[in-house]
Amino acid sequence: MTEPKKLYVRTFGCQMNVYDSERMSEALGADGYVQTDDIEDAELVVLNTCHIREKAADKVYSDLGRIDQIKRRREAAGQEMTIAVAGCVAQAEGAEIIARAPQVGLVVGPQSYHRLPELVRRAGAAGHLVDTEFPEEDKFAHLPERTTGAAAGGRMLPAGPAAAFLTVQEGCDKFCTFCVVPYTRGMEMSRPVAAIAAEARRLVTRGVRELTLLGQNVNGYHGDGPDGRPWSLAQLIAHLAGIEGLERLRYMTSHPRDMTDDLIGAHRDIEKLMPYLHLPFQAGSDRILAGMNRKHTANDYVRIIDRVRQARPDIALSTDIIVGFPGETEAEFEATLDLVRTVRFAQAYSFKYSPRPGTPAASLDRQVAPEVAAGRLERLQKLLGDQQSSFNAGCIGKVFPVLFEKPGKHAGQLVGRSPYLQAVHATAEADLLGKILPVEISAASFRSLAGVVRMA
Ligand code: SAH
Ligand code: SF4
Ligand code: F3S
Repeated sequence: MTEPKKLYVRTFGCQMNVYDSERMSEALGADGYVQTDDIEDAELVVLNTCHIREKAADKVYSDLGRIDQIKRRREAAGQEMTIAVAGCVAQAEGAEIIARAPQVGLVVGPQSYHRLPELVRRAGAAGHLVDTEFPEEDKFAHLPERTTGAAAGGRMLPAGPAAAFLTVQEGCDKFCTFCVVPYTRGMEMSRPVAAIAAEARRLVTRGVRELTLLGQNVNGYHGDGPDGRPWSLAQLIAHLAGIEGLERLRYMTSHPRDMTDDLIGAHRDIEKLMPYLHLPFQAGSDRILAGMNRKHTANDYVRIIDRVRQARPDIALSTDIIVGFPGETEAEFEATLDLVRTVRFAQAYSFKYSPRPGTPAASLDRQVAPEVAAGRLERLQKLLGDQQSSFNAGCIGKVFPVLFEKPGKHAGQLVGRSPYLQAVHATAEADLLGKILPVEISAASFRSLAGVVRMA
């Protein structure tokens, strides 16, 4: 018997890429590859890349330099290595990647992953291959089914993780002026309800208890329902909530414009839908929001949050914020701080504006000086950090159902998630992995909670 080929996958960027990496590994697994954690040992290296900010894209090239050294060492020892660049940098830069980094054998955009085994073979034969088409066919329908055990290239999968991602929507037509996603992921496309439900059921048989439905604009979901009509995200969530053994549902990322009444109502009515909402607002100034083409005002955002909190008073809120968008004045930045103070977030991501090639904002005059943007980011992150710490501190003494997902750093400890997506550490035996148990919270930090399991 020949040794199976070894595959090494490195993932950058958002949860969507985490999901895609799993699907790519499965597609290659069905073609005889087994995964390795040791890059030196790999015949095939896949970098699943992110183009969202300059730093993320640059990281790919510095990695490629290091991987080239490994490839040369392997080749000197008579062993091959194919390097594939997938993801959003692949889509955005295409053949330019090979021009800059000739050690790369394959450049493959996010819409071609179902053809990966074939593309790897063709790249091997041709030396180089670039595939960044947006084909008509639905890649999800052509990726191998997600099953247990033997189907993954003869490799027995370990008992599945308790929480998983499931992409239900891809692409974006919103065209925020700073953002590359509409160019790297293409137009909005929603998967059919039946395909999602089937995948969800298979994941549940693999031990998954919590699903996060993913999409760049997940609340714009409008996939074909079993009745032949387009279903909303709220309808999809209600449908999936009926799957026995699936205990928790989440979704991300949402756009304020698509925060419909039925989705807000779902937070009141569907018990399995967790009290957590990631709703980016990007900036607090209406002039900047207009420049970003966000199509909502700061006040619209506050009104949406009021309605969400009426439906689910304990909901934990998260957001994305950009500082230093071109032309942002001090007063306009202060409006962002004000909006954060008004809403109060349990958690948030904040970034310095990064000009991206081909986006409208990149060619605007009055780019904000990097040191000014850095100062603003620091002030914003201080405020957000204080809010997060105080949200966590407010949990002390409460009892939360915690889904235990993995062993903790210390022996005899497990880490899980609260309904509010906080990491919770507790002393617990390994057989509690994958179970949801009440935990009394005894300590809190900026990053996480600690508590004691209260056995019934
Ligand atoms: N679809 C989501 C998220 C897209 S990317 C949404 O609409 O919110 C994730 C986050 O990266 C964005 O919310 C934004 O805050 C940030 N981001 C996107 N482009 C950026 C850029 N050019 N510079 C800095 N941050 C950016
Ligand atoms: Fe990018 Fe805006 Fe689309 Fe989000 S809504 S992916 S920020 S263009
Ligand atoms: Fe990055 Fe692409 Fe996700 S640019 S954030 S990996 S959609």
